[in-house]
Amino acid sequence: MNLAEILAVGEAMERALSLLEGGDVIAIPTETVYGLAGDATNGAAVARIFEAKGRPRFNPLIAHVADLAMANRMAAFDPLSTKLAEAFWPGPLTLVLPQRTENGIHPLVTAGLDTIALRMPRGFGGELIARLGRPLAAPSANSSGRISATTAEAVAADLGEKIKLVVDGGATPVGLESTIVKIADGKLRLLRPGGIAARDIEAVAGAKLMRGAAGIQAPGMLASHYAPDASMRLNAGKIASGEALLAFGRKRAEGWQDAVALRNLSEAGDLREAATNLFAYMQALDRSGAATIAVEPIPADGLGEAINDRLARAAAPRDQID
Ligand code: TXA
Ligand code: MG
Repeated sequence: MNLAEILAVGEAMERALSLLEGGDVIAIPTETVYGLAGDATNGAAVARIFEAKGRPRFNPLIAHVADLAMANRMAAFDPLSTKLAEAFWPGPLTLVLPQRTENGIHPLVTAGLDTIALRMPRGFGGELIARLGRPLAAPSANSSGRISATTAEAVAADLGEKIKLVVDGGATPVGLESTIVKIADGKLRLLRPGGIAARDIEAVAGAKLMRGAAGIQAPGMLASHYAPDASMRLNAGKIASGEALLAFGRKRAEGWQDAVALRNLSEAGDLREAATNLFAYMQALDRSGAATIAVEPIPADGLGEAINDRLARAAAPRDQID
């Protein structure tokens, strides 16, 4: 079994850059918790993040930026978001903002949403992103269901067999994930309490944070957030005329020739490739105007669990919000 190399921040930069350039994921220290980072513009790298975490579903990830200029290329900032970014970045504040089209971010990072979560981390992460020149997608560096890691040793013990490098920056000073605030139409909503107190954000914003409900708290749980206009029919063994087909692997469902549009998540049957294509292909088939998107069976192992979870949410009745 290969165990991750652990390098101190002072000696890790070049190795970290070359791994990220090659589409690998690495663990990096931030001021909040350790992050499991990959190039946010590289779909295969983002799929590896979910694979390494063993996440049963594709929750959207935070895209970490080096500076305000990079952030502005990713999302539309209004005066309020700019004020908060200037007050708290770099630091433990994540802003959920309207995403810019053509920003290069892979749709697996945002789980197909039209918003994006942005954060500028302090220290090594910020320097690394500036050197890379592209945002890093990074959830907390822990296996799904475990608590976030605040030391390099904790990361290595949990994920050391799955990644090649852990950058050791010592114990993270904040030790708690970032506070997540969504800004829409000049209104602020607290999506997750974290490293910056809500009252400190309110003081700078000069406005109260809305809390609770509204169905946007945990977008991964919200079926309708991901729903295409077309209805979805899963585990389809046979295609009816007029349906679009989301295929997987080499063997086609019966009647596939009649599909009005077809995308194959992975001709080779590779679940990582399928994960990187999932949101873009669902959107493409939806644009075909078909009333129904039939989906071929997808294996449930590895990333297949998250793919099937997301498909099931997209297929759920539109009024069902769980
Ligand atoms: O401190 C942190 O935030 C750490 C470090 C590594 O930066 N990261 C972290 O990431 O905690 P993660 O993936 O464990 O949590 C990200 C949260 C998820 O709850 C996700 O639902 C939410 O951010 N999120 C991401 N994009 C979103 C969006 N477009 N709208 C609403 N919530 C979003
Ligand atoms: Mg986490």
